[in-house]
Amino acid sequence: MSDIAEIKVDGKTVELPVITGTEDEKAIDISKLRDLTGFVTLDTGFKNTGSTKSKITFLDGEKGILKYRGYSIEELAAKSSFLEVIYLIIYGDLPTQKQLEDLQADISKHTLIHEDMKKFFDGYPSRSHPMGQLGSLIFSLSTFYPECLKPNQTAEEQDLTIIKLLAKFPTIVSFVYKKSLGHPLIYPKNKYDYVTNFLWMTFGQRTEDYDVNPIVVNAMNKLLILHADHEQNCSASTVRIVGSSDCNLYASIAAGIAALWGPLHGGANQAVIDMLELIKADGGDTEKWIAKAKDKNDPFRMMGFGHRVYKNFDPRAKIIKKACDDILENLGIDDPILEIAKKLEEAALTDQYFIDRKLYPNVDFYSGIIYRALGFPSEMFTVLFALGRLPGWIAQWKEMHENKEPIGRPRQIYVGETDREFVELKDRK
Ligand code: CMC
Repeated sequence: MSDIAEIKVDGKTVELPVITGTEDEKAIDISKLRDLTGFVTLDTGFKNTGSTKSKITFLDGEKGILKYRGYSIEELAAKSSFLEVIYLIIYGDLPTQKQLEDLQADISKHTLIHEDMKKFFDGYPSRSHPMGQLGSLIFSLSTFYPECLKPNQTAEEQDLTIIKLLAKFPTIVSFVYKKSLGHPLIYPKNKYDYVTNFLWMTFGQRTEDYDVNPIVVNAMNKLLILHADHEQNCSASTVRIVGSSDCNLYASIAAGIAALWGPLHGGANQAVIDMLELIKADGGDTEKWIAKAKDKNDPFRMMGFGHRVYKNFDPRAKIIKKACDDILENLGIDDPILEIAKKLEEAALTDQYFIDRKLYPNVDFYSGIIYRALGFPSEMFTVLFALGRLPGWIAQWKEMHENKEPIGRPRQIYVGETDREFVELKDRK
């Protein structure tokens, strides 16, 4: 295989280097293309464009492989905790026992949020979506910790900025939830591990002791691990491109939260449950809804199906489907929408439309059913996706700085009007 690609354009042939990744992925490095030819490439939606070289996550969409820092998602989901995966993704290696304890201790020092931040909750209207609140609260961290604004932070300063975010994010998520219920806020208890502390703040009551259910802790760890990173998706790319202007970590991640919110990305987990509820209320006729998804004149899409990169199966969906069965059985929950979900999946997987377009259930298809079984309302699902994705966003932002990447600034091909004669307002028709 040659490490040079030849491009012939406008009667001129230029040679461009071919880059090979450690998993044998190949790319043509076009960074000199415009200098050499005057041409740029056009790739709306970046379906063929690599934006960076990254060491964080590898995925092979054809084979259904996902690895964080070289470890398979199957093994991490089965054997590690979310905190171990946080360390792995951000710092590059699995932690030793001591490193894990140090990380937990560092986080414990910062789990409270500034008391003034609580006033924000009084300002949100009662119907406001938790993702809108989460995004603005994370953005606001940059006003409470202005030291994060400094570009070129030292490694220690950057680390403290990261630890504060890791520590406060679960507290903020829990407070958003408690406020939505009108319940008193439950402060963190640092004797708990990262995930248990989150569950305590979310489901604990001031009036009761909290009995931590190991099934719930285990399920939550698994779900968060499965969402922890997914290479250059819409929100991660957003975090990197916003961060490339030397914008601080908190604001960059708030931008990532906005990108995640859309129903084509992380918002799909809420959309799936809303869709399953709708189908149930409509009598549960899955064939009718499959036909709607296939009808090009109908805007309905089968939420939780399809993926830009996975064209065989989504390995996260496989793990989640199994976890979903186990968790509902362990918690003794019989959710009728699980049956509808399974019927939809079965029908879709044998339907030519879905086969031809390689549309398989993705990570969001079953995750909502688990979140529901754990007691979360559907409006919180995308917020939980964000909690899981946090280490990935942090690692992408950190790596972008370590790589000394230039400010992100795509080109375009202008197709608008060319020279027009200005007409005075009074003369315009
Ligand atoms: N239901 C029905 N048809 C679909 C669906 C779907 N969910 N997804 C794709 N298609 C069709 C689409 O209409 C098109 O058909 P045709 O070639 O006849 O025009 C073809 O499949 C290719 O679709 P596309 O929109 O060009 O594919 P994409 O790679 O741009 O989009 C996607 C990927 C995930 C946005 C899309 O599959 C989708 O909208 N899925 C539903 C939303 C969803 O579940 N999103 C969560 C993604 S996984 C979590 C995450 O990482 O964010």
